[in-house]
Amino acid sequence: MTTMKVWRVKQANEEPLGPELREAAAALRDGGLIAFPTETVYGLGADARSTAAVERIFNAKGRPSDNPLIVHIAHRKQLDELVLPYPKLASRLMDCFWPGPLTIVLPVRDEALSPLVTAGLPTVGIRIPDHRTALALLEQAGCPIAAPSANRSGRPSPTLAEHVLEDLEGRIDGLVDDGPTGVGLESTVIELDGEHGIRILRPGGITREALQQAVPEARIDSASIEEPETAPRSPGMKYTHYAPQGELVLVQGDPEAVTAYIHEQAKAASRDGEVTGVLAFEERVAQYSADHVLSLGSEAELDDAAHRLYAALRELDGVGAERIWAESSGEQGIGAALMNRLAKAAGNRIVRV
Ligand code: TXA
Ligand code: MG
Repeated sequence: MTTMKVWRVKQANEEPLGPELREAAAALRDGGLIAFPTETVYGLGADARSTAAVERIFNAKGRPSDNPLIVHIAHRKQLDELVLPYPKLASRLMDCFWPGPLTIVLPVRDEALSPLVTAGLPTVGIRIPDHRTALALLEQAGCPIAAPSANRSGRPSPTLAEHVLEDLEGRIDGLVDDGPTGVGLESTVIELDGEHGIRILRPGGITREALQQAVPEARIDSASIEEPETAPRSPGMKYTHYAPQGELVLVQGDPEAVTAYIHEQAKAASRDGEVTGVLAFEERVAQYSADHVLSLGSEAELDDAAHRLYAALRELDGVGAERIWAESSGEQGIGAALMNRLAKAAGNRIVRV
C-alpha cells in the first residue's frame, strides 16, 4: 500500500486551517480516507456521499457491512439536505448539545448519502463534533463525512494519533494528528420515540442526566448492557467491541470484596504462569500485586477514567496481559458509558462478589 501522510496540527492558538488541513480536506473531497481527531475519539473519515470512498472505510477497519456509520457535519444548515423533517425534540437537543458528543439518529433522505453509510437502514446517525480541528476540516471539506472510530474493528477506539497508526498504518491515506482526544469514549447515540421519548442506543459523552436536565419532560430509556441483544436497535451494539487480547473480567460489588477477589484471582493466575493485569481506581492500586496494575485515576473523577480507559486497554495488550480484572464504578454520569465499554471489553464476563 502507498505511504500515508501525517499532518501535525500546530499550536492551539494558531489559525486552525493551515496548509496541512487544506491538504487533508482536499484528500477527503477526492475520495481519500483520512483519520482525524474529535472531542471523543479519532475518527476515520471519508466523503459520505461516495460509495467507493465509504467502502474503503469498511475494508480498512475490517468492519461488518451491516454496522452503519456516523455522519459528521460542520453546520446545522447541512442537515436539511441529508434528513427528512424530524420532531422538535431533536432540534431542542441540537440546540443544547451541538457541537458535542451526541449522535442523533434521524430519518435519512433518499439518495443523500451512500447506502453503505446507513447499512440499508432508513435512518442516519449525525453529529457536529466539538473540536476545533475537526470542525475546520469538515468545513473545508464541505461535504458530510462518514467517520467511525479509527481503529481496526474489535480493537479499542483510538484516543491518540499513535493508536490510529498502530491499527491502520498503510491502510489509509492520511492522519491529522492533534494530540489526545478529550472525552476518550465515543458519542452518545440516541433515537427519538415521538415528541417526548429519547432512547439511548449507546451511552457516551453526553450523560443521561444531562439529557434529562435539558428536556425535563422527556421519557428517557436505554438498552441495558446486560440485556440479551436479540434484535439490536443500534447494530453496533451486537459486536464484541473494544476487546483486549487477554481475557478481561469486570468485577462488581463492595470495594473491599472486589479488591480481595481480584487479588486472590491474580495471585492464582500468576502461580499458573499467566501474565496478569488489573485496571483499578487510584484509591486501591497499591493493594494489587499483579504483573501490570494500571490506574484509571480517582473513583471520584470518572471523567479521567473515561479519558484513560482505551489507552489502558491498549497498554495491557502491549505487555501481553493474558488475564485481566477490572474494578467497576458507579453508573452515574459518564460512569454509565464507562461500564458499558468495560462490560463489552469483558465480552460480558461480569462477576459479582
Ligand atoms: O464519538 C463517536 O461517535 C466517534 C467519533 C469518530 O465521532 N464515532 C464512532 O463511530 O464511535 P462508530 O462507527 O465506531 O460507532 C457508531 C455507532 C454504532 O454503534 C452504530 O451501530 C451506531 O452508531 N449507529 C450508526 N448509525 C445508526 C443508525 N442509523 N441507527 C442506529 N444506530 C446507528
Ligand atoms: Mg467504533
